[in-house]
Amino acid sequence: MFIAVEGIDGSGKSTLARELAARLIDELGADRVVLTREPTELSPWGRRLRKSEREGRLPRDEEIAHFHKDRLFHLDEIIKPALALGKIVITDRYVDSTLAYQAHDLADAEALYRAMAPELIEPDLVLLLEIPIATALMRISEARAENTSFEREETLRRAAEIYASRRGTRYRRRDGGQAPQVVLEAALSAVQERLQAHN
Ligand code: TYD
Repeated sequence: MFIAVEGIDGSGKSTLARELAARLIDELGADRVVLTREPTELSPWGRRLRKSEREGRLPRDEEIAHFHKDRLFHLDEIIKPALALGKIVITDRYVDSTLAYQAHDLADAEALYRAMAPELIEPDLVLLLEIPIATALMRISEARAENTSFEREETLRRAAEIYASRRGTRYRRRDGGQAPQVVLEAALSAVQERLQAHN
């Protein structure tokens, strides 16, 4: 089972991914669950992207190519081997992040997805945390002295709009504004539902 956790910065997705992994490890054992994230720290493309958060973003086409190559590396080195062993893989961000943050608008997001999807595998479940932009910005400013280059208001606004446009049975939307415990329980119900459909 392959789960992606998505949402704008400040939506609580990293907290959810971590707590979801911890809960599933409690229930199933540490050898059955892998928690991972994008951009990775593993590939040269991922490391370059992490650096760009602090030092300034790459030109758009280069940025897209970096996220895509880092994702292919992530799939080959981490995600596919774990899935082949029957593990549950939880990734904090996946392809919807590239659509949300790199596409200019909804049509561009769709075109980007069509171009990248043939090389990717689809998650069984995408947990999408939704939150008002103002709340996200407040949380970000509480967490850090300065926003990174991905965390500007207009970037988050467009990202939220693109996330909202994504369609398909694999998406489950949850309210990221609730307490972490409430978000976790709401996410777990979606995971249980999917696990049952799997068996
Ligand atoms: P994030 O998960 O927010 O990292 P951290 O937990 O360190 O804050 O990811 C870092 C940034 O990368 C985030 O602001 C969004 C951006 N990003 C993209 O723009 N496109 C992508 O495809 C991915 C995976 C991330």
